[in-house]
Amino acid sequence: MFDHLPSEVTIYEVGPRDGLQNEARPISTSDKVTFIDALSATGLRAIEISSFVNPKWIPQLADAAEVARGIRRSPGVRYSCLVPNRTGLDKALAVGMEEVAVFLSASETHNRKNVNKTIVETIAAFDEVIAPAQAAGIRVRAYVSTVYGCPYEGAVDPAVVVRLARDLRQRGVYQISLGDTIGIGTPVQVRDVLLRVLDEVPAQELAMHFHDTRGTALANLLVGLDLGISTIDSAIGGLGGCPYAPGAAGNVATEDVVFLLHGMGIKTGVDLEALCNASQRISSLVGHEMPSKYLKAHLGARARGQRSRG
Ligand code: HMG
Ligand code: MG
Repeated sequence: MFDHLPSEVTIYEVGPRDGLQNEARPISTSDKVTFIDALSATGLRAIEISSFVNPKWIPQLADAAEVARGIRRSPGVRYSCLVPNRTGLDKALAVGMEEVAVFLSASETHNRKNVNKTIVETIAAFDEVIAPAQAAGIRVRAYVSTVYGCPYEGAVDPAVVVRLARDLRQRGVYQISLGDTIGIGTPVQVRDVLLRVLDEVPAQELAMHFHDTRGTALANLLVGLDLGISTIDSAIGGLGGCPYAPGAAGNVATEDVVFLLHGMGIKTGVDLEALCNASQRISSLVGHEMPSKYLKAHLGARARGQRSRG
């Protein structure tokens, strides 16, 4: 174990999208812009800023276009957004997005609740996104949700995940993010699923997206890292959840991931102190404490006048 850890990891920050989509308190556009600008200054290299979806489904992100127009785009940071269909892509292109992400689930019921379509219909609709995006010089990422379990159907067949990953790769996405939407995966299962997917998709085209509902996210990430996967989706503070996966907690916290990686000598380029400052500010905007364990320890150490390691 730990013989194949990468020397560097890309953190794909999903807090402004996966994090805020789940927050009840409305956050103003200018607060979102300030939040994303603060994230851009932490050394993060990829930030998912919002979703161009039906605003009736995700009201918190109805201002995606204004947010995209308002943020300062730092050189060296890739800004992306979620798009479910051609309408979303057109809106993203209109505001100069340079990367978009399509999404579907490995289980029919979650897929239907999330995008109102069958899996087959959803994939077919991606053809309206991927080719035109590429023609416009835009990179396309894909998420597969409910990889390790579905809130409605329970167990998910890994063969379905492998088939979807193969299909998405053939359709031309540059990266596939495997989502543990309800945070139910455990390391032996994760290793089994990832090894099967790695037979079809190289490690550098995969990302890991673990929600930390049951506290297994970091353990699961270690398994994937040791298999050579070097892109990790995480959300500042541990914000997040899926409105169509009841009970799903936040994404694994970016602070916790960065602390873990730096402690193992793996570079991320992220300044943990700056991240914690941004996390504290978003905590007061959303009106609740952040679940991040590192943040709590850091704030405790700060209150005691000590420096926390990392
Ligand atoms: P629908 O209602 O079936 O769509 O929704 P429709 O095609 O019948 O259109 C209905 C209306 O929506 C029309 O407007 C369209 O113009 C409009 P109307 O004529 O009624 O005025 N519309 C749009 N408006 C803005 N942007 C668009 C768009 N498309 C249609 N792109 C749809 C289908 C997919 C749009 C809907 O189901 C939807 O927006 N779903 C979003 C769900 C969502 O965002 N879920 C959370 C993100 S996924 C997630 O969190 C998991 C992830 O983190 C990974 C993991 O954790 O596993 C990624
Ligand atoms: Mg998610």
